[in-house]
This record gives sequence, structure tokens and C-alpha cells, in this order.
Amino acid sequence: MRNLYKTALVAVVAVLGFRMAATADAVTATEVTPAVNKAGVFYYSLNDLFVNSLSAQIRSEAQAQELELAEYDAENDLLRQLSQVRNFLTVYRGQALMVNPVDAQNGEAVLRAARKANVPVIFFNRRPSQGALDTYNKAWYVGSNPELSGLYQAQILTDYLENNINWDKNGNGKLDYLLIKGERNHADTQGRSAAFREGMRAAGYELNALDVAYADFSYARAVRYLQNYLAGHDIGEIEAVVCNNDAMALGIIDELQHRGYNEGDGSRYIPVVGIDATEKALNAVKDGSMVGTVYNNAPAVARTVVRLTSLLTRGEEVNVKSLGMPVSGRQVMVPYVKVTLANVGSLRR
Ligand code: BGC
Repeated sequence: MRNLYKTALVAVVAVLGFRMAATADAVTATEVTPAVNKAGVFYYSLNDLFVNSLSAQIRSEAQAQELELAEYDAENDLLRQLSQVRNFLTVYRGQALMVNPVDAQNGEAVLRAARKANVPVIFFNRRPSQGALDTYNKAWYVGSNPELSGLYQAQILTDYLENNINWDKNGNGKLDYLLIKGERNHADTQGRSAAFREGMRAAGYELNALDVAYADFSYARAVRYLQNYLAGHDIGEIEAVVCNNDAMALGIIDELQHRGYNEGDGSRYIPVVGIDATEKALNAVKDGSMVGTVYNNAPAVARTVVRLTSLLTRGEEVNVKSLGMPVSGRQVMVPYVKVTLANVGSLRR
């Protein structure tokens, strides 16, 4: 009985509390400061160097645009991300989701949860498949066109080869190279690798892949990979190393340097290309140990994701003027920039 009474009392207070809040809102609606915009931001893994730098940019952009964030790190665990999303949707009913999905290929489970809650979901950095995005008209994607970064890598490398005519060490007329890929199901892995190959062929170079390996965008995995590879192969056979991102390119360079390569002696040099333009990669381009990288514009991605979320949260129209970026079919592609020694000093970030 006592418990029942207590429960009833709590219920009455809750209802009253709600009414009071509602009345206060109604009375002062025109003069009070606007309600805070809140959104959940879900990262696949803050252990990923690029995603980590993206998260810092998103935080500062959200502060500047007065969007309050609830941040979550799934530590590369899909089930954890799903329960984070579900918890957020329960606590903050109706608020938008900004999602860097663990499931890089389709993000379907998150999409389903967002659709059920009828809230906008803005995917970024890891692009769900077109088919998945098409299933929900409040689903968006902000990222960059992976094909363009692969093509830029091909251009960086062909420029290098043209200026270093002795690149064909064994004289077989082909570029004997290693391709170090990111995560298997990531759109950037597939798009970058294919466009790189296509760009080289279009420029008239025949490729011979000595090996193709997945190192999951990770520095440590790339180091380990090269150690294993060189246990069975001669370093002198490698004419280039192409990596789907900078973390892996830096791992390759560290291991090469460990073996006396890429330290200034032109006869012991292997051109390595990356993507992202992280701080360390820019230094490597400056000191010549990396032949070039491609700027994956984290500040612009962050600005666009936050602005898009704010517009959707306020129910405003999304177009090139309101967003500051061209929009096509609920997708926004932030341009990449090619980075070599020629422009590394003047790169604006
Ligand atoms: C970046 C990688 C990163 C990946 C994470 C890519 O766009 O180039 O460095 O690991 O996104 O999803």
C-alpha cells in the first residue's frame, strides 16, 4: 500500500512537473533562448587516427554552431554501436544521429533504428551502400569521393616516375609494387584501390602487384605486414608502395627506414604514397620520405556534418546555399587535395 501510494505520488509529480514545464514554455516561448539542439555522434573507433582527428574537429564545430553533442565510441564493435544508438534514441527522443558506422558497408542496423524512431541520420566517413541509403529519406551521407583520391595517388606516382627515369629496377617494363589496403568492406578501400590502378593504366603504366594485402588502415598492421613480407622477399624488388591511407604509409616508411631506406640516399629509396594528410604524413612529405599524400579534409567534413545536422534538426531546407557545399541525392562530397613537396608548405587546412 505504502509503495502504491509512493508510486502514485511520483506519477502525479511527474505529470505536474511536465505540465509546469509545458506552461512555462508556452508563456515564454517567444522570449526564451531557443531550445538547445542536441545530436548523438557515434564513432566506429576513436583508435583510428583519422577518425580521432575528425572527432576533435566535430567537437569544435558543434561548439561553434551551438549544437550540443552526446558522443560515443563503439570501439569497432557493431553490437556496442547499436546499443549506443538505441540508448540515445530512448533518452533523447526525436534527436538526430551522426553516425560513423562500424558496419562500413551498409550501416543497415543503424538505419533501421533511425527509421523506426523517425529521426534524421547523417552518416559520415564510412559510406553505406546506395541501396541502404535509398531505403530511408532521412538518411544522408557526408564524405569524399574515394575514386578521386585513388586517381590523385596515381598522378602523384606517375609524376614521380617521370622525374625518376630509373624507377624500373629490374627492367621488366612494369611497375612492381605493393598495394596495402584498408578495411575489406570499406568503400574507400575498394574505390581508392580500383581508381589508383585505373589511373596508372590510363597514364600508360603497366602494373605488376608483388602483393596485395589488407592492413585495415592501421599503422601497426602495416609495419607487421612489411616485416613478414620482407622475411621472404628482397626489398630491392619493390618499386613502389601504395597505401589506402597515411597511417599505413607511415608504418611502411618506418619499417623501410629501419632497413636503411627512404632516409636521403637516392639509391635506397622506394616511393610510398598515402591518403589523409595527417600531421605526420605532411612532415614525411616535407622530409622526402613519403612521395605524396591526398588531403582528406577533416575540418570541411566536420563543418558539413554539423551544419547539415543543425539544418535537419531545425527542419530547414538543405541546399548549396544553406550548407555551403553541393548536395546531390542526400549525399555531400567534400573535395580532396593532392599533396606533394610542391604544395605541402602552402596547404591550407
Ligand atoms: C581514412 C582512413 C580511416 C578511415 C576510417 C578513411 O577515409 O582515409 O584513414 O581509417 O576513413 O573509416
